[in-house]
Amino acid sequence: MDLKIYKDKKEVAEQFSNYLVDQLKDKESFHMALSGGSTPKIVFDVLADNFADKVDWNKVHFYWGDERCVPPSDDESNYKMTVEHLFSKIEVPKANIHRILGEKSPTDEAIRYANLLEINMDRVEEVPQFDLVILGMGDDGHTASIFPHEIELWDAEDHCVVATHPDSGQKRVSINGKVINTAKEVAFLVTGASKAEKVEAVVEKTEGSEAYPASLVNPSSGNLVWFLDEAAASLLK
Ligand code: 6PG
Repeated sequence: MDLKIYKDKKEVAEQFSNYLVDQLKDKESFHMALSGGSTPKIVFDVLADNFADKVDWNKVHFYWGDERCVPPSDDESNYKMTVEHLFSKIEVPKANIHRILGEKSPTDEAIRYANLLEINMDRVEEVPQFDLVILGMGDDGHTASIFPHEIELWDAEDHCVVATHPDSGQKRVSINGKVINTAKEVAFLVTGASKAEKVEAVVEKTEGSEAYPASLVNPSSGNLVWFLDEAAASLLK
């Protein structure tokens, strides 16, 4: 596990952008699963504003690790956030954007999206292999849209699952643990003091950490890197 700790969200965003440029070097095509949340929002702004000309976006295929089951115009939509902070500022071929159709039936969309991943990507033991999966950690400990209260979804047979937000009941489509752990690279983007206790539990594997899906992220042959700000890393020894 590679821990990279930076001063603040902005520096996390800058350093992650450098890492992404490096990952893209010498690649013909690059299949990347995005995450929602406030940290990716800043990452997308930095990527678009300072790194746009350092990347050949034509070779990047954008997917989402999870999406809320809402229309793409809804403020809750991870796709909408990505359009506002990234796609509205860089040239990406429409064919390279593979949205989770939140406005469809969650169950049908989970099946459709899993099939899309399997068609579009190389597979390892029949599991679609992303070049990079970006993950975050919510204040409640969810990662992608696998929540602690339904952590059994992590090991679901289906590569895409239907999750339910514990408070709002909102339905979400999320990739499962097998897809995450098959990726060549997995990068956590976690910032803010509210994450510090959970980061400490997961990174130091303390008692109770198994309640958090993040503790199950362990790429079988890929590389795991954490991009943290000092606030989120403040309890690490
Ligand atoms: C989601 C996100 C989620 C995100 C966390 C972290 O759709 O809810 O994909 O998994 O990564 O909520 O969000 P912050 O970056 O705001 O801490």
